[in-house]
Amino acid sequence: MRRPIIAGNWKMNKTAAETKELLEQLIPKVKDAKSEVVVCVPYTSLHTASQMLKNTNIGLGAQNVHWSDKGAFTGEISASMLLEMGVKYVIIGHSERRQYFGETDQTVNKRVIQALSSGLTPILCVGETEQERLSGQTDEVNRRQLTIGLQDISEEDAQKIVIAYEPVWAIGTGRTATEKDADETIGKIREMLSVMYSRDTALKIRIQYGGSMNSKNAQGLMAMPQIDGGLIGGASLKAEDFSLIIKASDSQKF
Ligand code: PGA
Repeated sequence: MRRPIIAGNWKMNKTAAETKELLEQLIPKVKDAKSEVVVCVPYTSLHTASQMLKNTNIGLGAQNVHWSDKGAFTGEISASMLLEMGVKYVIIGHSERRQYFGETDQTVNKRVIQALSSGLTPILCVGETEQERLSGQTDEVNRRQLTIGLQDISEEDAQKIVIAYEPVWAIGTGRTATEKDADETIGKIREMLSVMYSRDTALKIRIQYGGSMNSKNAQGLMAMPQIDGGLIGGASLKAEDFSLIIKASDSQKF
């Protein structure tokens, strides 16, 4: 069985002081969770979060990583910097990075390779825009993002990756994909992985849904067989909402 994984993507929210406040509320609420719980905080909150999450069941994640070990890359963060902070997971290829910061499938691939070789778990984001969906390109876009994003990644390493299917039109808009649509598209992504690797590997890789997932729609989404968790933006910024999503995951999958 694939262990569900619920990850919060805090994006550019919460100062270090606010991080402390939110985690103080969240830690006791999720301490008995059976699902894997992760928070991907801003770089400036990593130190605070890392101290607070010691000896808890919440894993620490970052929101990006550079592909080089070190060097003249102003504004970038390396895998070893993250590892020293206690980071275990890293979001790669989020649609906001693709849309606003020039992230391409090729740079996504380089980051995934670096994350894996450093021992970080990549949360690789894929998903179509509204226009791509309307013109019937959803599968094609997901296939391209997966094929290039996972280029040169061995079958063994592929099993360590978490994939987040995030239809861009559903992110931050309150327009969640229907349970059926999300499950079907994730099922197709699993088929693509099965062609790229093997059926056995495809069945092991965890695929999350992301895009306006909240405490109200989480039960229905987590009830779907292909959906192995969620990547949660807005609703991860409130301890109560995020913990309800984790409870929904626990109740549907265990
Ligand atoms: P949202 O964001 O839950 O606020 O839609 C999800 C994401 O971008 O990862």
